[in-house]
Amino acid sequence: MIDKIKVNFKEDFPILEKKVNGRRLVYLDNAATTQKPKSVIDAISDYYKNHNGNPHRGAHSLSVEATSLYDDAKEAVKNFINADSIDEIIFTKNSTESLNLLAYSLSEDFKENDEILLCISEHHSNILPWMRIAKEKNLKLKYIYIDENGSIPESEYEKITKKTKLVSIAQMSNVLGTIYPIKKISKIAHENDAIIVVDAAQSIPHLKVDVKDIDADFLVFSAHKMLGPMGIGVLYGKKHLLDNMPPFLLGGDMIEYVYENDATFAEVPFRFEAGTQNVEGAVGLKAAIDYIEKIGLQNIEAHEKMLTEYAVKEMLKIPYIEIYGPMDLEKRGGIISFNVKDIHPHDVSTILDSYGIASRAGHHCCQPLMRYMNLNSSVRVSFYLYNNMEDIDVLIDALKNVRKWLGYGS
Ligand code: ALA
Repeated sequence: MIDKIKVNFKEDFPILEKKVNGRRLVYLDNAATTQKPKSVIDAISDYYKNHNGNPHRGAHSLSVEATSLYDDAKEAVKNFINADSIDEIIFTKNSTESLNLLAYSLSEDFKENDEILLCISEHHSNILPWMRIAKEKNLKLKYIYIDENGSIPESEYEKITKKTKLVSIAQMSNVLGTIYPIKKISKIAHENDAIIVVDAAQSIPHLKVDVKDIDADFLVFSAHKMLGPMGIGVLYGKKHLLDNMPPFLLGGDMIEYVYENDATFAEVPFRFEAGTQNVEGAVGLKAAIDYIEKIGLQNIEAHEKMLTEYAVKEMLKIPYIEIYGPMDLEKRGGIISFNVKDIHPHDVSTILDSYGIASRAGHHCCQPLMRYMNLNSSVRVSFYLYNNMEDIDVLIDALKNVRKWLGYGS
């Protein structure tokens, strides 16, 4: 199967035929969003050509078809993450909305001085919703700090105590690529009766995530980072926890009865899905899951490991490049953040673009991490299953020339 990856998955992705600045597109911004295979694009098109209706709202055939496609997508997500039932799967807009929903709906359970524990490398979307409820309810927001290798030192786990009510952490850092030991963190959280929220936005496209194995109370991710469309995300929650949570958004389809001055709400998961849902997104997500499962996450992980090892090895040979995050590549996914001496990351990214290479530069929505690392910003490249060794060669060649572009000797 890995041989098949080497053969050419690029063929399945129409956009990868595009030329950028006269060069072959080398798409290395997969941590921001991934490209879509033809099967996902076709599934969305087929939905609008043949099945479009408003789900859960009509007795007519198209509404029934849309409902059935929406439920099929939930079934696919349930199996993909090994949840118990589709009632544990809530469709949202993206990971950010899932985290906002959680912070809002869980906040009733928190009392003054309760502690919420995050990691310093969290994306703003896994900081700001918790920060808001911490301010509103006088909770203590605490952080786990990482070491110079981008890993969590043993002593930091001692911050999870009986005062900790909730730990929310990304399984893979979107800046450093660090894969955190989520099973261990979940175990310590539960030993202290804390809830564990896993932000799987960066991990689930690349490695097998089993909610039972990691014993996640809640898990969030976005379809667009795993070959699916933008505008649909997932919130998984253990059923007994979801059952006790109030709704986040209010409106159609999430009610039981509405009176002039009162209302009662629907069962989970409908209680959390107000308004017309993103059926084409659900259809696209299912097609993305089917595509990923056909290749196999183990094969995807192995392929990305090979690309990352090669890229890191070649980048380390360039004396003016500094790479951040774990150098033990067993602890790193296919994300490499780095800087080129004397050159602003935005200049590096712009020069890479002239070689047809898509990268990202900036603080990556992780200002607390950047401040902690004494950085303003970095360049980031991130890989996926359609990248190959030639893509890395184009990157290395371009990086060798970046400083010359700006007038430095080498
Ligand atoms: N969260 C996405 C990233 O890190 C947008 O690029």
